[in-house]
Amino acid sequence: MRECAKNIVGPLMLAPLAGYTDKAFRMIAHEWGADGAVTEMVSAEGLARGGEKTEKLLERYPGEENLVMQIFAPSHDPVERCMDRLIAHNPSMIDINCGCPVPKVVKTGAGSALMKNPEEIGRIVKVIRNATDIPVSVKFRLGWDSSSINYLEFADHAVDAGASLITLHARTRAQGYSGTADRSAFRTLKEHFKGSDVLVYASGDIFSAEDARTLIEDYGMDGVMFARGAIGNPFIFRMTKEYLRSGKCNEPAIEERIRTALHHLEAAVSFYGENTACREMRKQLMAYIKGIPGANKAKAAIGQAVTSEEMDKALSMLI
Ligand SMILES: Cc1cc2nc3c(=O)[nH]c(=O)nc-3n(C[C@H](O)[C@H](O)[C@H](O)COP(=O)(O)O)c2cc1C
Repeated sequence: MRECAKNIVGPLMLAPLAGYTDKAFRMIAHEWGADGAVTEMVSAEGLARGGEKTEKLLERYPGEENLVMQIFAPSHDPVERCMDRLIAHNPSMIDINCGCPVPKVVKTGAGSALMKNPEEIGRIVKVIRNATDIPVSVKFRLGWDSSSINYLEFADHAVDAGASLITLHARTRAQGYSGTADRSAFRTLKEHFKGSDVLVYASGDIFSAEDARTLIEDYGMDGVMFARGAIGNPFIFRMTKEYLRSGKCNEPAIEERIRTALHHLEAAVSFYGENTACREMRKQLMAYIKGIPGANKAKAAIGQAVTSEEMDKALSMLI
C-alpha cells in the first residue's frame, strides 16, 4: 500500500489551497513540473449529501491522471457516509484535513480541531481503509497551540490505522499562517518513522527551490508541499527540479510569467465560463505580476476587469 503511494505522488507537490487549487491551477502546476497535486478541501458532509458545489470541486481537468482528493470532517461518521460518492470520483489518494484553522470549520470539530482528538483520526483512516484500497494520507499541524504540541502522537494514530503518507504543516492552529514553521519538527517526525515505509512530507514556509532542497536533502523528507510559494509562481516546480539536478536555477522572465498567467486565465475561462473565471482569477493573476515594474497599474485594471479580454489587456501591458 505504501509502495503504491510512492507511485502516485513524487516529491514536489502542490499543496491543497482552498480557493486556489482548482483544476485550472493544478493543470498549470503539472505543466510546470509538479509531481502531484491536492484538491481544495471538500466537506465530507456536503459530499455525503450530494451537494453539487462539493462534487464540482472534485472534477479533473481533461487528461488529469493522479489526483489526491482532500476531505474535512469532524468525525468518522460523515466520512463513512461520503465514501461511495468519493470513490466514484476515482481519487488516487484520499487526504484528510487536520490543519484548517478557520473558525467555521473548527467549531464543527473538523480541520485543526481534530488535533485535540487524536483517536478520531485513527477511526477516520480506518473507515476509509475498510471501504477501499485507495491509499490514505493525513495533513496535520504541530498541535492546537504551543502548550499542546502532539504531532508525534497524532501521526502515530494515523499511521497505525493505515495512512500511507503524512504531511506536517509545522505550525500550531494558534499560529494560523503566521510565525515561522518549526523546521526541527520535520526532522523529528521523519526520525520518528525511521525504518517505516510511511512517506513523510513537509509543509510550511516553503518558498524557494533552496527551501525544498534543504528539506529533502538535509532533513531527509520524502517530499514537500508548495503552498503560498506556488501561488502566481508555478515555476517553482521546474526551478526546484533544475536546482536539485544542477545546484542552480533561473527565475522565469517577465514575459514567461505573463504568458503563463494568460494561459491560466484561458484555462479557467474554458472550464468555468467567462464570468466565474474572471471573478475567481483576479487574486491569482495579481500574484503572477507581483513585483513586476508597472504592476500596480495592471493590478488596478485587473481589479476592475469583468471580461477576459480586459484582463488580457491589463496583463499584456506589462510586456
Ligand atoms: C489560502 C489558503 C488556503 C488553504 N487551504 C487549505 C486546504 O484546503 N487544505 C489544507 O490542508 N491546507 C490548506 N492550506 C494550508 C496549506 O496547504 C499549507 O499547509 C500552508 O499554507 C503552509 O504552507 P506555506 O507556509 O508554504 O504557505 C491553505 C493555505 C492557504 C494560505
